Amino acid sequence: MDPFSLLALVTAAGFVFSKVSSQSKENNETNRQELTYSKDIVARAKAAVITETNISDIEVLPEYLLVKKLVQNNFPMIFITGGAGTGKSTFVKWLLSEFKGTVLLGAPTAAAAVNIEGKTLHSLCQLPPAWIVKTDIKDAPRRREIAEAKLLIIDEISMVTANLLDGVSAFFRLNKKIDKPFGGMTVIMIGDMFQLPPIVNNQTKDLFERIYGSAKFYNAKCLSFSSYYAVELNKTFRQTDQLFVDVLTKIREGIDLEASISLINRVCLITDSPPFGAVWLSPRNVEVDSRNLTELNKIDAPQRMYRGEIEGKFKDDRLPSPMELVLKVGAQVMFTKNDPQRRWINGTIGVVTKLNNDIIVVSLAQTGKLVDVERTKWPEFNYAWAEDKCEITRVEIGCYKQFPLVLAWAMTIHKSQGKTIEKVHLDLGSGSFETGQTYVALSRCRAINGLSMTRYLKSTDIHVDKESKAFYDELRAIIKKLPPNDLLNRLDAASF
Ligand SMILES: Nc1ncnc2c1ncn2[C@@H]1O[C@H](COP(=O)(O)OP(=O)(O)O)[C@@H](O)[C@H]1O
Ligand SMILES: [Mg+2]
Repeated sequence: MDPFSLLALVTAAGFVFSKVSSQSKENNETNRQELTYSKDIVARAKAAVITETNISDIEVLPEYLLVKKLVQNNFPMIFITGGAGTGKSTFVKWLLSEFKGTVLLGAPTAAAAVNIEGKTLHSLCQLPPAWIVKTDIKDAPRRREIAEAKLLIIDEISMVTANLLDGVSAFFRLNKKIDKPFGGMTVIMIGDMFQLPPIVNNQTKDLFERIYGSAKFYNAKCLSFSSYYAVELNKTFRQTDQLFVDVLTKIREGIDLEASISLINRVCLITDSPPFGAVWLSPRNVEVDSRNLTELNKIDAPQRMYRGEIEGKFKDDRLPSPMELVLKVGAQVMFTKNDPQRRWINGTIGVVTKLNNDIIVVSLAQTGKLVDVERTKWPEFNYAWAEDKCEITRVEIGCYKQFPLVLAWAMTIHKSQGKTIEKVHLDLGSGSFETGQTYVALSRCRAINGLSMTRYLKSTDIHVDKESKAFYDELRAIIKKLPPNDLLNRLDAASF
């Protein structure tokens, strides 16, 4: 199918972002501009992590093949969504292997970027950690990889603000020298709008409301008049217990809340001393730090500090394990990097059993197996264009050396987004404060018997974002008009 017929087809079905976004619908020239505003606000990002799956273990869904075909047809924008554990980040990994050498991979936060071996959008597009304005968009004539890239994939799009996305689009528009959003490159945006939204401070909130309607990515000016296609992944991989999957699906959208909550309260253990190996999830950093410290202090054993090391360039705001790692024998830890020998993965929980100079022995919580952990190296990459191979290559510009461990009795729910955690202990402390927060916490574990809580769940603990709800209602209605199978059949028919 030629690109124009394909675009006409999706546009007719209603796949145009301005139809679902809350920004002003005025179709005037100023509204089309990505960035025109004064620089006065600082915006910040936050973390997410994915777990490891081998490419050969991945079940290739029909939706994956459709998206692959759309990319091959130079389709401009694709939004991939789905609840927690439906394989969104796994899809990123599959796409990377399918389009190797032509892809740039970005994420809103340091942790999300480290874990998919991509870059933060800020670093990829040389953007300041602030409200982005026109003068922030830098000409990067020597970055051939930017000019040559065919595909940009952004994971955890729910945490990307409209202003950041406009900055990214403007950067590619300038550096690809093509006057279209994202310089005409195909962009795949992946995420779940029912999970945690971007962090927006009070000042920025007003600015977002005034200029974009809200901070949500789909309000970005660069998307206003662009056609896109959307795929909603519905098969849950993280959880296999259908009852739990159903309850989580309802909590995600705030459906049948009373019944769903009472089921969780009936089945879950309510306790102050959670089972061995459970990770406390709390809304706030102070709650998490104090829990980790309390637990470390309970151990009557000498403590040892391991200092990390930076070589070359490595941004120290994105250290995957602390620069000063303080441990005791008996400390509960989490691995922060996959093991090449596959003894553990990023997110595996264990307990320290021995602290030597160069080896820390950890007993893995799930199997009790003892593993020798050595210092590891996190490389920091830059993308470059390899003239001889005519493809994008990654060049190492520095690294961080440290044991791949952090204290892990507790972590914030924000940090847990994207992770699979075998045993979760939910401690809402002074209560959840963000939409999607309780849903993200509950959906980290694989089975309902892996979940315990400090107190019974209440309906006031669940905040569902109204704007996201309206967004999905609209989106699903549009998808019905042109479902994935239909589009795939049309593309197949057109290729003969
Ligand atoms: N297509 C797939 N085939 C096999 N396993 C998958 C697939 N998609 C996801 N998984 C598994 O399910 C878990 C959650 O997947 P993930 O991609 O992190 O979900 P999401 O990003 O949607 O929350 C991971 O442990 C992953 O290995
Ligand atoms: Mg994910």
